Amino acid sequence: MEDLNAPIPPIQDHNKPISAKPKDPVVGDGAHIIVFGNEKGGSGKSTTAMHVAIALLRLGYKVGSIDLDARQGTLTRYMRNRFAFIKNNKKYIPSPDHLAIDKSDAETVAEQQDQERAFFEMALAELRAKNHFVVIDTPGTDNFLSRLAHSHADTLITPMNDSFIDLDLLAEIEPGTFEIKGPSIYTKMVEDQKAQKKLRDGGTINWIIMRNRLSHINAKNKRQIGALLEKISTYAEFTIAPGFGERVVFRELFLKGLTLLDLKDNTDTKMTMSQIAARQEVRQLIMTLAPEKLKGRARPLRKKA
Ligand SMILES: Nc1ncnc2c1ncn2[C@@H]1O[C@H](COP(=O)(O)OP(=O)(O)OP(=O)(O)O)[C@@H](O)[C@H]1O
Ligand SMILES: [Mg+2]
Repeated sequence: MEDLNAPIPPIQDHNKPISAKPKDPVVGDGAHIIVFGNEKGGSGKSTTAMHVAIALLRLGYKVGSIDLDARQGTLTRYMRNRFAFIKNNKKYIPSPDHLAIDKSDAETVAEQQDQERAFFEMALAELRAKNHFVVIDTPGTDNFLSRLAHSHADTLITPMNDSFIDLDLLAEIEPGTFEIKGPSIYTKMVEDQKAQKKLRDGGTINWIIMRNRLSHINAKNKRQIGALLEKISTYAEFTIAPGFGERVVFRELFLKGLTLLDLKDNTDTKMTMSQIAARQEVRQLIMTLAPEKLKGRARPLRKKA
């Protein structure tokens, strides 16, 4: 059982020499890797990554997490807030084994990439060996670490907001006719990383698009985006998962380090209808993921006395 009072490991120091590089750290029957990615900032990657990690823990799976957006560090701060909650309230809530990897500041691009690859592979090897799932949060911009993580994804979850700006990263759409002209930058990047993964271990990436912050009022826009996504999915090979609605509770939960899955046992107030509906949306996303098909049934979670 993990030590809940242990501090979150410090952000990796790239200036320290790498003692021993594992031979082939990412091959083998290790954890299922779930990457959260989208080159559009603020689409809900960190929030969804945290909710999926905690949902899997609460199903009894062992979960590791990696923050590749260490500069912004949203997922790492979310974890810190969670550890603070545990400490202050002396309550057991399950938390993943968390690591954060910073961008290298080595002099040349080649050195930076070597260091980033080495740290990423070490972190992944460590967490893969000990967990059923490893959840990886990536930054909202294209960089080497993000591409590398995508190439290791067994499942890629892309949260997107219901806007044409977000769709534009997936496909080039003719403005007047809504005709799909071809894949856009992010889809091309995912296709490249699928090819990398195939080369490395013969595997494939199961790509899931998840609509986030769905509005309850703008039904026409919602329908239009839904129809276009269906159309793009025939070109770009992704499935569309049920999304999350627009809910203020997500912002409050971050500060407490809690997720919707923690609320019932850990707050004195009763859950509101909106929170119960939001929790159901998280559960539906997990059902789409079907963790029992990926890793078998987990043993029920044992609570610490
Ligand atoms: N369904 C939602 N309803 C309301 N607010 C949300 C929802 N999902 C995310 N948010 C809020 O949107 C903001 C951005 O979310 P988050 O940090 O998860 O996005 P991100 O994709 O990780 O961003 P970045 O690209 O900057 O890393 C946060 O303030 C978060 O609380
Ligand atoms: Mg983020």
